[in-house]
Amino acid sequence: MSKRYTITAALPYTNGPIHIGHLAGVYVPADIYARYKRLTGNDVAFICGSDEHGVPITIKAKKEGVTPQDVVDKYHAIIKKSFVDFGITFDNYSRTSAKIHHETASEFFKTLYDKHEFVEEVTEQLYDEEANQFLADRFVTGTCPKCGNEEAYGDQCENCGSSLNATDLIGPKSAITGNVPTLKETKHWFLPLNKHESFLREWILKGHKKDWKPNVYGQVKSWIDDGLRPRAVTRDLDWGIPVPVPGGEGKVLYVWFDAPIGYISATKEWAAHEGKDWEPYWKDKDTKLIHFIGKDNIVFHCIIFPSMLKAEGSYILPDNVPANEFLNLEGNKLSTSKNWAVWLPDYLEDFPNQQDVLRYALTANAPESKDNDFTWKDFQARNNNELVAIFGNFINRVVVLTNKYYDGVIPETSEFSEIDTETLATVKAYPSVIESSIERYRFREASQELMNLARLGNKYLADEEPWKLVKTDEARTKTIMFVALQIASALATLSEPFLPFTSEKLKRILDIDTNSWTDISTKDILLPSGHHIGKGELLFSKIEDKTIQEQLDKLEASKKANEAANKEVEPQKETITFDDFTKLDMRVGTILEAEKMPKTKKLLVLKVDTGIDTRTIVSGIAESFTPEEVVGKQVTVLVNLAPRALRGVESEGMILMTETPEGKLVFVNPDTTVNSGLQIS
Ligand code: MF3
Ligand code: ZN
Repeated sequence: MSKRYTITAALPYTNGPIHIGHLAGVYVPADIYARYKRLTGNDVAFICGSDEHGVPITIKAKKEGVTPQDVVDKYHAIIKKSFVDFGITFDNYSRTSAKIHHETASEFFKTLYDKHEFVEEVTEQLYDEEANQFLADRFVTGTCPKCGNEEAYGDQCENCGSSLNATDLIGPKSAITGNVPTLKETKHWFLPLNKHESFLREWILKGHKKDWKPNVYGQVKSWIDDGLRPRAVTRDLDWGIPVPVPGGEGKVLYVWFDAPIGYISATKEWAAHEGKDWEPYWKDKDTKLIHFIGKDNIVFHCIIFPSMLKAEGSYILPDNVPANEFLNLEGNKLSTSKNWAVWLPDYLEDFPNQQDVLRYALTANAPESKDNDFTWKDFQARNNNELVAIFGNFINRVVVLTNKYYDGVIPETSEFSEIDTETLATVKAYPSVIESSIERYRFREASQELMNLARLGNKYLADEEPWKLVKTDEARTKTIMFVALQIASALATLSEPFLPFTSEKLKRILDIDTNSWTDISTKDILLPSGHHIGKGELLFSKIEDKTIQEQLDKLEASKKANEAANKEVEPQKETITFDDFTKLDMRVGTILEAEKMPKTKKLLVLKVDTGIDTRTIVSGIAESFTPEEVVGKQVTVLVNLAPRALRGVESEGMILMTETPEGKLVFVNPDTTVNSGLQIS
């Protein structure tokens, strides 16, 4: 039965590109779901957009010396492109700086204001005297009162997940100046969540929401059980949507008030563009509203936004909020600030046209019920052992043999054997098998069922061995190939939500476009005898160890670079006099010979022309340079350093070096070729 679905995916913050964690946690499952719902004949609005307000964007703009609008314009374009590149089929990808969003959010706020759904209160808020501004949300850090994490933010502690008020922080510090803030009075509007407690209890706890994922249900229940408090929905900031009521001058809506309304404005924008009415997608009781989010967004989507919708009065509430846990990367938490991530634009550069491999690896290992780890080894294994060895192998055999034996024409069948009938019946059952997993938001399981269908095909061919029978039993071979082609055809359609690019390729190869999801379980024949298929194309290719190692090296390098960038700069040493300086005799030297010091890892023994003489210098650079690389190089040498013996070799001087963040040594040397012996002063 066809239904109307409004499917939303969390609006990403627009202060950086998106990485595999975002894809695995939110956008791939949401896209699988949306594609599946469309394929099964439903009316779908799949909605997302950029979340462009909030303090982190202002902070980033300040740091880079640009405007917040510059920041969001840049990342909105990058993020939007990534979604297109990875086949995420939003019906609309909008943004919260859009006019229609400002209008929609303002109007929503005014409606609640007019209905007296807010509590207006003057409270003392943290204030930075030097920066001349209030410190909301991420503008202030301090110790979390719940778990003691010293780096909690004014709106949330990322360690224990508690949502906080800035004034809850112990020992607060301004993120702008580092100063200890003072308190200053200011008026704000609060959404009295406590007033909505009984409705929330009824709706979530006593209602049929027990079919929500246990992690979501559990978090919401514990929030409600903890007691709900009024929550400020306005801020003293200048980046955001102006508060549209008297007394709101100089204040903006809290980003978490406006952002979820972004789902509504994006739907309006889409509907206007399509010539549709947006309202049924948000107000018709028969519409199912599903929010795909990460676990840090649960409270906003299960408590605050529903309370807003309820207070407004004309909206439907979410039917389900299938939040995922977090994805880690090679054992560490994904982190934008620490650059511990696989960014989508980078992935695509390194693995062009291999979006489906990432989609598949992330789905097969999705953090659905607990945090999970993405490893490059697992990625490689999913590709080589499943996509290549099972799916790709099966399709390749079918297509190659059909072309070879029958010039690409689907053969006539004779009598089906018991195995054939059984196999075809199993194929028919697959849509509902996969469906049942998807309907329970178990996308990992669903992706494995899809792979099981390819396994079935592989096994069928391996058991029936058409390549042997072709010599002795032409009629039987034709029947086998016919059956195998039906499986291939089912795979082309059923893979679409998971492997959209592959599905498209496969449909092109098989020259089909008409099968719907339901056809597979209802039709006896998907590819009729006499139908022409095209030539084979490679669907997947093996990923070598070397490629994986390159990714691991890249991560390691970014970790080191980050550590170096965060390392405190060495404090300046004690002041010296000019006379002290002139005591140093530094010369341009030329390396004439170099060889490794036997039995050491780090040392090279160099013969250096200092202009004064040719002398031996032992230098700890063997891990950064081979002997061949340094011969002929001009370097800076401290020539009057007292000689000392290293491993029995007398070293007469020192070569000036520095170390890059990646740990490679580089010479501090003249950038033009000059004569050896020139003094440096
Ligand atoms: N930008 C938020 C985040 O990345 C998600 C916003 S979801 C919305 O955590 F509902 F507010 F839109
Ligand atoms: Zn905490």
